[in-house]
Amino acid sequence: MTPRAAHQLFALARDPAVSEHLQWKAHESVDDSLEYIHDARALWQRGRAWLPGIFDHAREQLVGCTGISSIDRANRRAEAGTWIGVPFQGHGYNLESKAALATFAFEHLELARVEFLTRCDNPRSLAAMRKLPGIREEGMLAERIWRDGVGHDAVQFALLASEFDPATWPAVTVDRASVS
Ligand SMILES: CC(C)(COP(=O)(O)OP(=O)(O)OC[C@H]1O[C@@H](n2cnc3c(N)ncnc32)[C@H](O)[C@@H]1OP(=O)(O)O)[C@@H](O)C(=O)NCCC(=O)NCCS
Repeated sequence: MTPRAAHQLFALARDPAVSEHLQWKAHESVDDSLEYIHDARALWQRGRAWLPGIFDHAREQLVGCTGISSIDRANRRAEAGTWIGVPFQGHGYNLESKAALATFAFEHLELARVEFLTRCDNPRSLAAMRKLPGIREEGMLAERIWRDGVGHDAVQFALLASEFDPATWPAVTVDRASVS
């Protein structure tokens, strides 16, 4: 994402329904969105995270965000997360973006394992996770996600490079120039 996307990001991230179950608060101004974009780019430059936007190019529209953070090179693992703006949920962007994320994690970052945490009180996300090809459901972690002073139980999911079969996912094309 570049700062050009800040207004579209703000239009989606200002809705509290999007981040209700996540670890960040609804954006209050375009400056919050710009700060996210700057932080995401800085983390990528330091090799710490990859936090791209999800764009529908035909509509010239940012529809959500995805990404890989807590990259642990020694153990070839990282944590992943996605959110889709409310007007764009239920249109298939989640599966498409997870396909891109898995391809990037396994083929470009050469990770062996990508983990996803979903709060137990987020049925829509649990349903979306359980639909992913080859997803492993590894169990419930008690009080794993804290928000506003409350600890929430979460289900841990994982994708493994050794089990990743691109034929079972939407096709992905990587533009090498844009990820170097
Ligand atoms: C989770 C999220 C990324 C999924 O994307 P999406 O576009 O909504 O995903 P889909 O609509 O393809 O899949 C959601 C599934 O949940 C089902 N679903 C929809 N609303 C639901 C609800 N209130 N309760 C339970 N299941 C629900 C859908 O029917 C669908 O399953 P189906 O295809 O078998 O019918 C998106 O909803 C989102 O961004 N939510 C807010 C942020 C978030 O929670 N992110 C995940 C953090 S772990």
